[in-house]
Amino acid sequence: MTALSKSRNLITDKGSNGRKMKQLLFMGILCTFMLFIVYRTTNYQHHHTKMETRLNPFNTEKGSTDAISRVNYLPHGIVQARSDLELRPLWFTSSASKIEVSSHRNLLAIPVGIKQKENVNAIVQKFLSGNFTIMLFHYDSNVDGWQDLEWSNKAIHIIAENQTKWWFAKRFLHPDVVSTYDYIFIWDEDLGVANFHPGRYLKIMKAEGLEISQPALDPDSLEIHHKITIRKRSKKFHRRIYDNRGSVRCSDASQGPPCTGWVEGMAPVFSRSAWHCAWHLIQNDLVHGWGMDMKLGYCAQGDRTKKVGVIDSEYIVHQGVQTLGGASSRKVKNNVLEEPVQKRRSPAVDVRSEIRRQSTLELQVFKQRWEKAAREDKEWVDPYMRNQKLIPLRR
Ligand SMILES: *[C@@H]1O[C@H](CO)[C@@H](O)[C@H](O)[C@H]1NC(C)=O
Ligand SMILES: *[C@@H]1O[C@H](CO)[C@@H](O)[C@H](O)[C@H]1NC(C)=O
Repeated sequence: MTALSKSRNLITDKGSNGRKMKQLLFMGILCTFMLFIVYRTTNYQHHHTKMETRLNPFNTEKGSTDAISRVNYLPHGIVQARSDLELRPLWFTSSASKIEVSSHRNLLAIPVGIKQKENVNAIVQKFLSGNFTIMLFHYDSNVDGWQDLEWSNKAIHIIAENQTKWWFAKRFLHPDVVSTYDYIFIWDEDLGVANFHPGRYLKIMKAEGLEISQPALDPDSLEIHHKITIRKRSKKFHRRIYDNRGSVRCSDASQGPPCTGWVEGMAPVFSRSAWHCAWHLIQNDLVHGWGMDMKLGYCAQGDRTKKVGVIDSEYIVHQGVQTLGGASSRKVKNNVLEEPVQKRRSPAVDVRSEIRRQSTLELQVFKQRWEKAAREDKEWVDPYMRNQKLIPLRR
């Protein structure tokens, strides 16, 4: 009896097992089907979003990531994302068709006023022999005065009255526009280049892996604002200075400006990548650029104590010429020895002191903006602060 019921139980178990199997199978099929539906829907949605982005080119709200998808309206092969500043002939004759645009690898950009014509001519002559592309920013609106120079029609002239170097650089040297150039020189007009050769300079910059540099200043220069820029006669280049006098002590332990990792705004040279970064640092409204030099080291594409340097063997003289009235290019300086003592006519003094006042104000704004940005960007880590914090840990 017990055996029978057991076997009956067994049979019923088998029966329910079979049913369960069927249910499982059914569930399995259902799940697969559902998954398939989910997959198709997601896929469709993805496709749809993609289409939507493509179909809404004027939706500019989403910012820079969409810049790429906006270009996707065009067939890929036609897209030229970059540009250069090379002049092109209106037509090619068979003999002229071999114009070597590719020989222009570097760019010199200088804000100029007609009063500095002679000096600028000397600078440009040097750079033309190195096949540089030349760009002049005329802050005094006088272009005609330059026409008699034989290289004038080879240069690019841009006029915007009373605008500063950094204003020009922000507007006309966008990284995409100048991306064909390996190095970009953004110089002031009052630099003496008798002991400077751009080709030899760049050779050193490349060999030493410098991303941002400046030529050293002849110690006889009229204006020297920071010791790190002074030429060391025995050296080819230097990355830091040693100084244990004065308020700022500089030693091997120094991590940043003004001891190391720093160049001044008057004659900076940027690699392509460094410029890509530095352009983004320039504020549209802070035209005098004060304070920016202190942060340029963040654009060094690595450790600023290694990738920023001052080149001694090719050096310049800072003539410190006062460009009366015009918003001159020499505004990126910090505090020390601002201007040589010099007698000036009274209207000019007003302009210069106004510019000074504005520059000081901009310096404050820039500092505050940097601090706010650093505070609010939770993902950003200050590479140089981290180094400082590590020092106590090593004790
Ligand atoms: C400048 O370009 C010309 C023509 O392409 C070339 O012959 C010359 O060697 C170049 N000079 C320098 C310094 O690169
Ligand atoms: C530029 O500055 C000069 C000198 O301060 C002034 O006379 C001139 O009117 C200014 N030009 C413009 C367009 O602001």
